[in-house]
Amino acid sequence: MPSVLITGANRGLGLEFVRQYLAEGWNVHACARHLSSEFQVLAKKFGTLSIHVLDVTDHAAVTALAKQLSAAPLDVLINNAGIYGPDDNFSGTGQNLASMDYDLWRKVFEVNTLAPYKVTQSFAPHLEKGGQKKVVMLTSEMGSISEMKDSGMASTCYQTSKAALNMEGVSLAAELKAKGIAVLLLHPGWVKTDMGGQGAPLSPKESIKGLRKVIANSNLRDTGSYRDYAGRKLEW
Ligand SMILES: NC(=O)c1ccc[n+]([C@@H]2O[C@H](COP(=O)([O-])OP(=O)(O)OC[C@H]3O[C@@H](n4cnc5c(N)ncnc54)[C@H](OP(=O)(O)O)[C@@H]3O)[C@@H](O)[C@H]2O)c1
Repeated sequence: MPSVLITGANRGLGLEFVRQYLAEGWNVHACARHLSSEFQVLAKKFGTLSIHVLDVTDHAAVTALAKQLSAAPLDVLINNAGIYGPDDNFSGTGQNLASMDYDLWRKVFEVNTLAPYKVTQSFAPHLEKGGQKKVVMLTSEMGSISEMKDSGMASTCYQTSKAALNMEGVSLAAELKAKGIAVLLLHPGWVKTDMGGQGAPLSPKESIKGLRKVIANSNLRDTGSYRDYAGRKLEW
């Protein structure tokens, strides 16, 4: 039975990944800093769910969890936890020339950029022992410099954190190739979650169904690629 570890798994896209992988019979390690009430329901229904309390910015806790799970091979690691910044949704402000909040900018980088590196670094040995050997970074099309160039958007904290995550994914792909581990940079689309807001066109169900298909059909030849939930290639 394949296994997946998902960060930020208590709501939004992370929770939908948990639901869908469990329904497909996977071993799921759901990591979250706040536990979801749905975890109890899912744990009763599926014996393959393990729940771990984890704030991804707590590097000591990430190291400790990797040690605790050292005997567990991992097929797929999904770095999903993320924050937008102010108000934590796409309508938030406070990330532009008029009102930059530098503490917030540092925090967004801690969660969206540094944490995925630390988690990947800590769980690379588990992936080496797994069958599928895939790391997924939940990035965004807002991290695409060519897409954002003429968009008029100035969500600076979020955009810079995801652009840096894209470059991080490319450099991790280069380093992990020798170990047979693929790194995929995937944009979920604009999705109805707390972050995406209710005006988004996609449901979490549709987005995650698409992302799981892209992940399942990817291999080491796709490492370092930047694509969306439908498998479409994105420009950097
Ligand atoms: N929704 C979209 O349209 C969209 C578009 C492009 C990319 N994305 C990306 O997709 C990913 C998931 O987004 P979403 O829409 O599901 O967002 P969401 O509904 O706001 O959920 C974010 C998740 O990240 C967790 N998280 C935040 N900081 C954390 C930390 N320090 N440690 C552990 N978990 C933490 C949250 O946990 P708490 O409950 O503890 O806060 C929550 O589970 C993010 O990386 C986001 O940037 C989303």
